[in-house]
Amino acid sequence: MRAVIQGTGMYVPPDVVDNHRLGRIMDTSDEWIQQRTGIVTRRFARAGVATSDLAVPAARQALERAGVDAGEIDYVVFATMTPDYYFPGSGAVFAGKLGLRRVPALDIRQQCAGFVYGLQVTDALIRSGQYRKVLLIGAEEHCLFMPWKSWDVVFGDSDHAVPADEYASNTATRDRTVLFGDGAGAVVVTAGEGDSRGVVDVLLHTDGTLADRLWVNAGGSAERPYFHPSMYEDGRTVPIVEGREVFRLAVTLMPEVMHAILARNGLKLDDVALTIFHQANLRINESVQKRLGLGDDRVFNNIQRYGNTTAATIPIALHEVIEQGRVKRGDLLCFVGLGSGLNWGAVLYRY
Ligand code: ACO
Repeated sequence: MRAVIQGTGMYVPPDVVDNHRLGRIMDTSDEWIQQRTGIVTRRFARAGVATSDLAVPAARQALERAGVDAGEIDYVVFATMTPDYYFPGSGAVFAGKLGLRRVPALDIRQQCAGFVYGLQVTDALIRSGQYRKVLLIGAEEHCLFMPWKSWDVVFGDSDHAVPADEYASNTATRDRTVLFGDGAGAVVVTAGEGDSRGVVDVLLHTDGTLADRLWVNAGGSAERPYFHPSMYEDGRTVPIVEGREVFRLAVTLMPEVMHAILARNGLKLDDVALTIFHQANLRINESVQKRLGLGDDRVFNNIQRYGNTTAATIPIALHEVIEQGRVKRGDLLCFVGLGSGLNWGAVLYRY
């Protein structure tokens, strides 16, 4: 029994925010952002649109591509670190919006490794024989982390000058806030008996001693009260990123886990037709690509257009490579994710 991705879908909010727009609300520039990260634009959702709202159109597209009716789905796995609410999880809210009222919906929180962790859960659910049609979602709204007030300027609705104190406080978090964007990716995974396609292997790791390299240090049981206005005022709702350390970990651990999963399956790098790495920074991926000696035709990057969309990144990229005809039946694909936790891992998938 193999877990086979029958259909993919994606949705990004319509508002495109380029680097120049961010330069209106903080001291940054298109040149700096492009040079250090490769990012040119990202999408942000408008107020009133929640993470689960991004997931619904992505899921509908994946269902349509798979030729599966929403009513046939028997399990939902929802990966997000930016849920609609503190509780319940977005999986339940999303499933309700899709009209699923008796189907288990599981939220997972593995940040940028959310999709590879989600595929492992999905693969296990299907190979156990208990479930046959699983909807796996990765969806994020990072706009909720942004401490900005002048969203009208960000969205280009207005060009007013940002007050000096806001400009200064936006600048204080510029190393992180320019990296992220909103979006959702979805895959419909079905049970393939005797199918040569499907998940070949999943190799995952977590090192919680590195949790404070990349985290939001506010809004949880580590502190009383859980929520307090000062957390927002002090900027602690914005992720803390030890950028250089995460960069170093990513360029070390992503090639390592890819080598390891190939070795334990008796495969070589040359056997992999296309690798989709998590998109945190184009410079990270270029360095990883170089370390692995992969040609440009064997990797796919879309961070230039979307920024880092965390759990949504890999399913969005997978959808785009399929739509662009960059993969063909029989190709071996590798998905490599790494993010806060630290959680990281790789999936080998036969297309
Ligand atoms: N615009 C202009 N200047 C900036 C900006 C900005 N947006 N951000 C930082 N700078 C300045 C700094 O203040 C610093 O100035 P100084 O030299 O005068 O002090 C200078 O640029 C260099 O700053 P560095 O932090 O050294 O820049 P670096 O090249 O390391 O790039 C970055 C920073 C982009 C964050 C990089 O380290 C990186 O991508 N790290 C990994 C990213 C990451 O962790 N992403 C999160 C994963 S998401 C997840 O798992 C949830």
